[in-house]
Amino acid sequence: MAGGRARVAVSILDADHSNMAHAIRRGESEGADRFHIDVMDGHFVPNLTFGPKMIKGIRPRTELPLDAHLMISDPATYVDEFLEAGCDSITFHVEVDPEQITPTLEAIRAAGRAAGLAVKPGTPLSVLEPYRHLLDIVLVMTVEPGFGGQSFMRDTAAEKLLAAREYLSHNPVGGEVHVDGGVNRETAEFVGGLGVDILVVGSVLWIKGRDMGREIRLVRALADEGYQYRLNDGKPPIPRDAMVTFAQLPKHLAWRFMAEIERGGIPVIPLRGNGRFNPDGLRDFDLLVPASAETLTEERHAADRERYLEEAARWRVAYAAEHGVKPPERPRPGTGAGEVIPPDVGPARPARA
Ligand code: DX5
Ligand code: ZN
Repeated sequence: MAGGRARVAVSILDADHSNMAHAIRRGESEGADRFHIDVMDGHFVPNLTFGPKMIKGIRPRTELPLDAHLMISDPATYVDEFLEAGCDSITFHVEVDPEQITPTLEAIRAAGRAAGLAVKPGTPLSVLEPYRHLLDIVLVMTVEPGFGGQSFMRDTAAEKLLAAREYLSHNPVGGEVHVDGGVNRETAEFVGGLGVDILVVGSVLWIKGRDMGREIRLVRALADEGYQYRLNDGKPPIPRDAMVTFAQLPKHLAWRFMAEIERGGIPVIPLRGNGRFNPDGLRDFDLLVPASAETLTEERHAADRERYLEEAARWRVAYAAEHGVKPPERPRPGTGAGEVIPPDVGPARPARA
């Protein structure tokens, strides 16, 4: 996984359609973060590409995520086939028959995949309003859908990219804004400065003689530059996969607190870290949250954390008394000597991972 924040989805639309397995192998070895697969039905857009069978065929060729971008008129009819093909996310257009939208988004989510809606350049974002609670992805088109190699619509990007995040506000960590169409080294910094998470890059990667890996790295780095200097007060962006320790607690309390935090949509990883020893012989567990959600977690749960830490202190005393155990010892680094950790010392400080 690359450092930084921005991620590049390699669109295979302009790859050699006689050898998609090779395109996937090449994209992966050149540093793609994921693949973007443009499905067109000759009806929603005036072009035809590939279907679920092709996706199923390439699925075993890579472990990278496969994002399907359905430019088709009847997503509800075909969604099961795309799910079955192994897509990690499915995004279709909000301009289709409105009756189809909610059931299709629900089907995608029920299958545990990310669900997205795409908007054409001429469609206002406000049409997403009725579906916002079902969205993991908002895909902003910065060209008319249908073909690779068109020029980037700067005004559309400026109007929509930052605003699109608003429709993902219920999804504080997992939500992604994708930009699709005309993204390359010339436009990456601009869209990065508008906070986009996933940059779909197509035709420029498949130009004969082009160094694909370098192009991918440039696009990612420039998008991060844009983000750092336009949106993040000059601070380097936090990598999407960075985690920080939010609390250290005895196991039974850690598990309870984790469930509470996760209920609000913030994922938590419990880690057997270097927490203090407890009288039951187990160390405290670290609860890790995504660095990008650290502030939100603090806002929501700092007071709960105090309560849990107090409960942990009471539990240690009670446990030690009930079982007649002495406080456990742990070796002091470098000395080999035992350091006694009393069971009732004050709360552990949250540390950065
Ligand atoms: C266009 C597709 C895009 C296309 C982008 O309808 O949705 O994903 O591959 O290609 P470029 O990067 O050439 O604009
Ligand atoms: Zn696309």
